[in-house]
Amino acid sequence: MSEQNDQSTFDDDIPDTGGVVSKEQILTALSTINDPDLNRDIVSLGFIKRLRVCGTNVAFDIELTTPACPVREQMQQAAQDVVSELPGVERVAITMTAQTRQIPAVRNLIPGVKNAIAVASGKGGVGKSTTAVNLAIALAQTGAQVGLLDADIYGPSIPIMLGVPEGEQPMGTEENGVQMIFPIERWGIKLMSIGFLTEKENPIIWRGPMVGKMIQTFLGTVLWGELDYLIIDLPPGTGDTQLTLVQSAPLSGAVIVTTPEQVAIEDVMRAGRMFEKMGQQGTPVPILGIVENMSWFETPQGERIELFGSGGGARAAQAFGVPLLGQVPRQLEITRGGDAGAPICATQPDSPAAQIYHEIAGGVARHVATLAMQGQRGFEEGRALKTMEELVSRKGADI
Ligand SMILES: Nc1ncnc2c1ncn2[C@@H]1O[C@H](COP(=O)(O)OP(=O)(O)OP(=O)(O)O)[C@@H](O)[C@H]1O
Ligand SMILES: [Mg+2]
Repeated sequence: MSEQNDQSTFDDDIPDTGGVVSKEQILTALSTINDPDLNRDIVSLGFIKRLRVCGTNVAFDIELTTPACPVREQMQQAAQDVVSELPGVERVAITMTAQTRQIPAVRNLIPGVKNAIAVASGKGGVGKSTTAVNLAIALAQTGAQVGLLDADIYGPSIPIMLGVPEGEQPMGTEENGVQMIFPIERWGIKLMSIGFLTEKENPIIWRGPMVGKMIQTFLGTVLWGELDYLIIDLPPGTGDTQLTLVQSAPLSGAVIVTTPEQVAIEDVMRAGRMFEKMGQQGTPVPILGIVENMSWFETPQGERIELFGSGGGARAAQAFGVPLLGQVPRQLEITRGGDAGAPICATQPDSPAAQIYHEIAGGVARHVATLAMQGQRGFEEGRALKTMEELVSRKGADI
């Protein structure tokens, strides 16, 4: 779990001694603020924690459903505004925290991992691994605990993209007679690759059942610790191997990567149908959105050239009724970052390309959080989680 304290507004010193306004008044004011994804006010969603009033001072936490919440600042500002407007209030101290929600239906095969998200595509070379790497780093930069699992048994490329030196192997340990593996840490994320365990000189010919067994062993033996998100880079295609992988991992959702041209779209539709088929078989894997990669090439003069046509990502998103999470340009820095083991999100976090990955990460995180909240009992019926009186009178509660 990740908690982020914004030191500039954090004020733990304010005790609860009562003051110019009641907790009801504050909660009523805050209940005018809606979470745009959940379409519900932040009080009934249970986001307000540790509410204290002391004289003219008010302090509380807003606990978001993910540290990667893109509307974090707006929500804090709105809360600051409505509470400051209450008569007599002089100072409002808000601490933004996050408790990443977990999709309840997900079988919890990986202890400590709240959400596992697959990055998939119907076809090779569209930029899955590049997307997976930068998505993982962008999520970690919001304060989330993130792991990256390279499940591409045919051509593991993630260790190279993250700059793991040739020959570096993860450390092992034995727990109750079982061999466990510690992931390697790079750029603020934990990394595990099947490539660490396979011999480069004598590549194994993998068949479906072997892959499933391998992935299950893998999932059960990596000591990830507490993770908000585990990003899984899937091998290209939609064959048996991919199906086994998807069935073996307890996925919260999938991100599908495509390029803008027509052929790629057909592949994307195949990938999407693979996840839909999973749903029919009782293992629903929601598609969280589409990433369109190599959308255009930008010349040093800033001119955009659409190399592979346009509109593919939007069409795929529309076909599946999911958001287009972002369009990533084809940029030399991105290729170089991958080749050099220094991903653009890590080395140039303020660059326009890194910003796009941040938007994608925000979109993924909020979609997962929304699904998780919708999956909670009571949410679907439109019932407020707690009435105002319940919230205020809860004994021993943290509000
Ligand atoms: N937006 C981009 N701009 C520039 N280069 C990119 C971009 N996205 C990916 N690349 C480059 O394209 C190549 C293929 O990308 P990547 O390995 O991520 O694709 P993939 O879909 O994972 O491939 P595979 O199907 O083989 O696993 C790499 O050299 C990568 O650096
Ligand atoms: Mg790849």
